Amino acid sequence: MSTMMHTRWIRGLALIGGLLLAGGAGAVLPQDDGKVHEGVASCASSVCHGATVERGGANVLQNEYVTWTRYDKHAGAYNVLLNEDSQRIAKNLGLPNAHEADLCLDCHADNVPVAQRGVEFDITDGVGCEACHGGSEDWIARHTAPEATHADNIAHGLYATDDLAARTDLCLSCHLGTEDKFATHRIMGAGHPRLAFELSTFTELEPPHWARDADYAERKRLETPVVTWTTGLLASARHTLSLLEGRLVHEAGLFPEIALFDCHACHHPMSDKRWAPTRLTQGLDPGAIRLNDAQFALLLPVAEAVDGAAAAELLAGLQALNASVATGFDAFKAATDQLGKAVDRLDAALKAPLSAEAQEVALAALIRAGARGDYRDYVLAEQAAMALDVLLLSTARWDASRPAMDRVFASVDDEDRFDAGAFAQAVAALSAGLQVGAR
Ligand code: HEC
Ligand code: HEC
Ligand code: HEC
Ligand code: HEC
Repeated sequence: MSTMMHTRWIRGLALIGGLLLAGGAGAVLPQDDGKVHEGVASCASSVCHGATVERGGANVLQNEYVTWTRYDKHAGAYNVLLNEDSQRIAKNLGLPNAHEADLCLDCHADNVPVAQRGVEFDITDGVGCEACHGGSEDWIARHTAPEATHADNIAHGLYATDDLAARTDLCLSCHLGTEDKFATHRIMGAGHPRLAFELSTFTELEPPHWARDADYAERKRLETPVVTWTTGLLASARHTLSLLEGRLVHEAGLFPEIALFDCHACHHPMSDKRWAPTRLTQGLDPGAIRLNDAQFALLLPVAEAVDGAAAAELLAGLQALNASVATGFDAFKAATDQLGKAVDRLDAALKAPLSAEAQEVALAALIRAGARGDYRDYVLAEQAAMALDVLLLSTARWDASRPAMDRVFASVDDEDRFDAGAFAQAVAALSAGLQVGAR
């Protein structure tokens, strides 16, 4: 995670307000929707979504194409497959090349079957409009009619990107993987970068090509960063559980799918003696390999703010999950069941958005956990830094927190030089400066 990431993100976040209640996920992903994908060019005319500046007079900005093509990395996702890194990855995997391999195209482009590619479809457009918004076969003509509504568009195959849980499923289908496409440790070993995701931060980083204004709030639902963060975490937790249940065990050779574990549990210098027991690793022996359990761990401060019983269940489930790696399948299944129940329970408790008071409690719990060293693993520290920023954003302490948050971000800037002690100190300094979370 880079400093640039968080400065760009801060600028975007300062503009948001309003509320959103989570809706149902589980919709068919654009890649599997069976519809014709007409191609980016069919959205990009200057009277549609290709204006060079916001046009005004319409509900939407109409310059979405320009934002995407100039500032959004998704527009270059196919081109990445032509670069030297990708050539090396492909060679290591024994592929003729990366840009024609489904293995890569499934996440780096709108790789629908050839029969579903419209006249203007161009695979080199990368992660184009319809890779997120769904094949436009049935809605492209009608969605501009004056009487067209959002619900009507959805009924005709537009993907519900405004529904946060559905949005998380969509983003994670590439930013974490699914049963069908996954950046395995084999791909990582060949040279692919580690994947990390947090919905609120990544939504700002994309950057947004939509205006969160009054008419948006009327047509859709306007989300706060905190709601975006908690809904994203819950959906990520569910997504992770299903990957664990599917991927972890079924593909097992001698070793299960390593990419579901915390990368830095194995990949860190031997001179860096970082193992120490924490509340989260209770019951684990030194040297135990931890799963990547960041989503569950970061839900914990939220649970502590809204539902003590859910928090206890979450913590026990998380400890049991990591312990089960050494004890076997029955224990593993019991742990994922327990975590699933905790997530459901928390989801129910979060149907009402966190009150300002509850947000304070969550912030204090997060800071306490960070300062006492619960986030010793890099993936946890990285997620905690993003979470701190999201929670501070909705408080009056945002400006005052900047110098201390810069230090927190600096301490997670380089995963290879991560120092758990320095991270805990940075969080403790934040706590002292803001007089929050101290014991
Ligand atoms: C499960 C989805 C998935 C698969 C499969 C996948 N990638 Fe990626 N790849 C991503 C995502 C998401 C990123 C961006 C990560 C980030 O920046 O957070 C990425 C980033 C990259 C980058 C770094 C891009 C940059 O801007 O520096 C390269 C290179 C790359 N992928 C090549 C490949 C190649 C080659 C393959 C096929 C062997 C492949 N990827 C398969 C999802 C995937
Ligand atoms: C990586 C996924 C992604 C890609 C690629 C993408 N979008 Fe979006 N788009 C979103 C999300 C998320 C939203 C916000 C939620 C919503 O309003 O549905 C959104 C919102 C929109 C909106 C709604 C604005 C409003 O006020 O209701 C339009 C129009 C739009 N996108 C057009 C495009 C066009 C045109 C392209 C291609 C040039 C594109 N999008 C590419 C994810 C994407
Ligand atoms: C079809 C696969 C796919 C989907 C769906 C997708 N992404 Fe991506 N995303 C990628 C790939 C591949 C990259 C890397 C592109 C590159 O480096 O050029 C990427 C890059 C990004 C980046 C830039 C990260 C960085 O390191 O700078 C952000 C931010 C991002 N995606 C956010 C999102 C969000 C938010 C969603 C959901 C609304 C989403 N993505 C959906 C494949 C996808
Ligand atoms: C269980 C321990 C373990 C975990 C967890 C783990 N790895 Fe690995 N990784 C290894 C081993 C062992 C190798 C092979 C080392 C060698 O060839 O010298 C390796 C190799 C690699 C390589 C190639 C290194 C090279 O020398 O070129 C990369 C890159 C990599 N892993 C990335 C990751 C990422 C990203 C994650 C997390 C998603 C991860 N690993 C999780 C054990 C692990």
